[in-house]
Parts: sequence; C-alpha cells; structure tokens
Amino acid sequence: MDYKNLIVEIDENILYVTINRPSKLNALNKDTIAELHEAFADAKEDEETKVIILTGSGEKAFVAGADISEFSDFSPEEGKQLAAEGQAKLFDYVANFPKPVIAAINGFALGGGLELAMSAHFRIASDNAKMGLPEVSLGVIPGYGGTQRLPQLVGKGRAMEMIMTAGMIDANQALRYNLINHVTAQDELIEFAEGMAAKILKNSSVAISAAIRAINANYEAGVNGFETEIEEFGRCFGTEDFEEGTSAFLSKRKADFPGR
Ligand code: COA
Repeated sequence: MDYKNLIVEIDENILYVTINRPSKLNALNKDTIAELHEAFADAKEDEETKVIILTGSGEKAFVAGADISEFSDFSPEEGKQLAAEGQAKLFDYVANFPKPVIAAINGFALGGGLELAMSAHFRIASDNAKMGLPEVSLGVIPGYGGTQRLPQLVGKGRAMEMIMTAGMIDANQALRYNLINHVTAQDELIEFAEGMAAKILKNSSVAISAAIRAINANYEAGVNGFETEIEEFGRCFGTEDFEEGTSAFLSKRKADFPGR
C-alpha cells in the first residue's frame, strides 16, 4: 500500500509506521490522519502484523502537532467535529488497538503529536525529544484526548501545569513524569523499540489483546475494570494459546503459540 504521508513497512512481525512530512515536522493534517487510520485498519486484519512501532521521519520531530494551517479559520462547530472525528478515527482507535503499539518519539512530540504518542500503549523517546501540549498558546485546548490522557499518565497537577504553561519537557523529565518508559540515544531508538517488540512477540498475542482490553477498561467511564478483567481472564481459558502456554510450561519447553 502506497501512502503520501506515511512510510509503512513490515519486517518479522513488526509493522513500522513512520509519519513522513518532515518539511512540516510531520504535522498531522487531515490526509495524514486518514492515512494513519487506513494503515492501522489494514494492520488489524493483517495476520503478519503482531506489534506496531510508530515513529516520525527525520531527526527533528515525531509529530509537531495537528496542522495549524488547516484549522485556523474553523467555526466552533467545525472545531468540535475536527476533535470528534480525529478521536474516533485515530486517537481512540490506536488506544484500543488489539495489537501492541509502541510510540518511538524521535524528536518534538507536541500537541496532536504528543496526543498520538499518548494513545499508543507505551512510549520510548530519544534523548533529544521534547514533549508538550502547547494548545493554549494558540487560544485552544488539546482536542485529541490530551486533557484526559496526560493526567492519566503524569497526574493531574503536572498535567495542569504542562497544559497551562504550554511548555515543553525534555525526555529525562518525561521519564521522571512517567510519560515515557525509557530514554535512548537517538540512533538507538528504533533498535530499542525492536528489543521491546521482540520480548512481546514471544508471548501470546491473543492474551495480549485481552490484556489491552482489560487495562483500558480502567479508563472507560461507567465500566468496572475488575469485571472486565474477570471476563477476559475467563475467555483466555478457551483459547489454543492458553492450552499451548500452560502445556509448554508443564512439559518444560518453550511455548509455540498458534497465533504466531
Ligand atoms: N502545523 C503546521 N505546520 C507546522 C507545525 C504545525 N503544528 N509545526 C511545524 N510546522 C511547520 C512550520 O510552519 C514550518 O513550515 P514552513 O517551513 O513551510 O514555514 C516547518 O514546519 C518547520 O517548522 P519551524 O517552526 O520552522 O521549525 P523550528 O525548528 O523553528 O520550530 C517548533 C520547531 C516545533 C518549536 C515549531 O515548529 C512549533 O512551535 N510548531 C507548532 C507546535 C504546536 O503549537 N503544536 C500544537 C498544534 S495544536
């Protein structure tokens, strides 16, 4: 599949999705959001894809935000629609994606860029990365889930401060804030993400999807995550992966999961 603003490649069960508009610091315009949706929708069906590494092209940016030039003349109604569509098509779609999504933040992750990284299941960043939600400096607020996901990750007070000051934090501060899980040198970022992916790939992809649903249930209004966990846990017992995982353990051999 050819994309205008993405590079999508697969290698050994890892799908690399690289946002590729480096002259605009990979800013998310409408077309790029649509292409990202398409790439993820394809990846959902593609049996070869087991883990996704999401990153930005060039050395400067992961994604420097939503494309400001596209919405500067929007009405309140259009603004609302922009946020609703973006959340449904991309940000919630990635957060609820049934296969692991790792954001490899290789530079600026600002506004919609940080919101996209926060939609991924976890984040690693290179030591040159800078992260922030600068929307209030433009007279708007984060609209792609940032007011919800940032406090979930860093806590309410830090999120309030980051959003109100519109400031950027560096990778080490992001690590201290639990916004990212690891910091690496820039030229080691993808290799590091691949190391994480390799560990994930050894495990049951069926169980991993169930774990994603159970963990996400904690953040859904009106949903009791403990009940979701019980349901998902029970469902695992009916899977071939469970049969293989437990019998491999009991016969002291490595599991070879049918889904692999
Ligand atoms: N939307 C649209 N275009 C953007 C963009 C965005 N969010 N972020 C960067 N760009 C474009 C710039 O307009 C510029 O395009 P041009 O060369 O055609 O003028 C190009 O990307 C390079 O950016 P530039 O600002 O020249 O780079 P810099 O190194 O001086 O500054 C940033 C880098 C990230 C600090 C700066 O680009 C910036 O503040 N971007 C906007 C961040 C933001 O507010 N994001 C939230 C949006 S809701």
